[in-house]
Amino acid sequence: MTASLTDLLARRELGFSLERPFYTDPDIFAADLEHIFYREWLFAVPACQLDRTGAYARLQIGAYNVLVVKGGDGQIRAFHNSCRHRGSVLCEARQGQVAKLVCPYHQWTYELDGRLLWARDMGPDFDPARYSLRSVSCRELCGLIYICLADTPPDFEAFADLARPYLEVHDLHRAKVAHTSSIIEKGNWKLVWENNRECYHCGGAHPSLCRSFPIDPEVGGVMADGGASPKLQAHFDRCAAAGAPAQFRMEGQGQFRFARMPLNEDAVSYTMDGKPAVRRPLGRVGLPDAGSLLKFHYPSTWNHFLPDHSLTFRVTPIGPQETEVTTTWLVDKDAVEGVDYDLKRLTEVWEHTNDEDREIVEANQMGINSPAYLPGPYSQIQESGVIQFVDWYAHTMGRALAPRAVAAE
Ligand code: FES
Ligand SMILES: [Fe+2]
Repeated sequence: MTASLTDLLARRELGFSLERPFYTDPDIFAADLEHIFYREWLFAVPACQLDRTGAYARLQIGAYNVLVVKGGDGQIRAFHNSCRHRGSVLCEARQGQVAKLVCPYHQWTYELDGRLLWARDMGPDFDPARYSLRSVSCRELCGLIYICLADTPPDFEAFADLARPYLEVHDLHRAKVAHTSSIIEKGNWKLVWENNRECYHCGGAHPSLCRSFPIDPEVGGVMADGGASPKLQAHFDRCAAAGAPAQFRMEGQGQFRFARMPLNEDAVSYTMDGKPAVRRPLGRVGLPDAGSLLKFHYPSTWNHFLPDHSLTFRVTPIGPQETEVTTTWLVDKDAVEGVDYDLKRLTEVWEHTNDEDREIVEANQMGINSPAYLPGPYSQIQESGVIQFVDWYAHTMGRALAPRAVAAE
């Protein structure tokens, strides 16, 4: 890197894409991990994925390897996946179920709440209470599990308080995982987000999604003033009157947003014909045409909550030019595959869309990798969401790099 990250942030041209090192440089990638992914609250899994005692999911976030585990008391906790003996990982699979957490190396055995239960031949003075697994901050919010790697996590309550009224009506505690897909996109995590935050590309790229999802920039982007057109406000009001809060709200200095946006006329779900994907709905959104509750929470997740099913997406940076996107389709736990829903019909729109987005992001990365790349202007009409994301990123990094300067602003 020739210019420092601080210099690059300072000379950033507002309304333009970032300079090449932000998308390619290993040092900036390391800074993204350290100042964003190791500090912020991250979406981990839907709680229903850990449906039984001992069910776990293993997440890799940069250098950190984390286990999210359901205890015998029903509580979901998170631990560093590193044995307190000599550090071996405890669980290697990405998910599974165990009675106890047993280290594969010398079989130190931990309770599901992290306490060390048993360690062979450690002598009379050995105190197992000193060697519990190191915990990771973990919160459950309306059926969504969040974790934070920081020793002192930032506030979670402002986000949780805003989220609850929007999420409660979706009854995620009643959900089950119908399908999960993880894909690797050979692109920087910020390109994945930039692509997510606009629908300038949707008409050309997403024939399946466009059957139900409007390409109106009000839907993909943000309304700069937080306002809504009379037609959109009427939709928000109609949803709210039916018990499904809908109003556009973006808070946390732009870190998270909720808005229940209408789908195309006659469409009620993300299917090829726009009709419901699931006969037995997940949640209590009484209005069939309530549209999709769009939630994003930087840096790790965007979600869609529909009247019949819900979708979670998790963004995991793997390397400067590699990002994993994990999509999970949630349906009511009593919905029966083949009876209440057809798995292909449920998943095909977003399977196509994810793959199309992967190609777009990879092509974007390839073009940026050329030394000839120069930052280009975002469309104020179509890409206000991208501008919002990049501004959030630059502000968050700037604050982390110069905390006192920003605090004095
Ligand atoms: S490293 Fe885990 S028991 Fe030895
Ligand atoms: Fe897309």
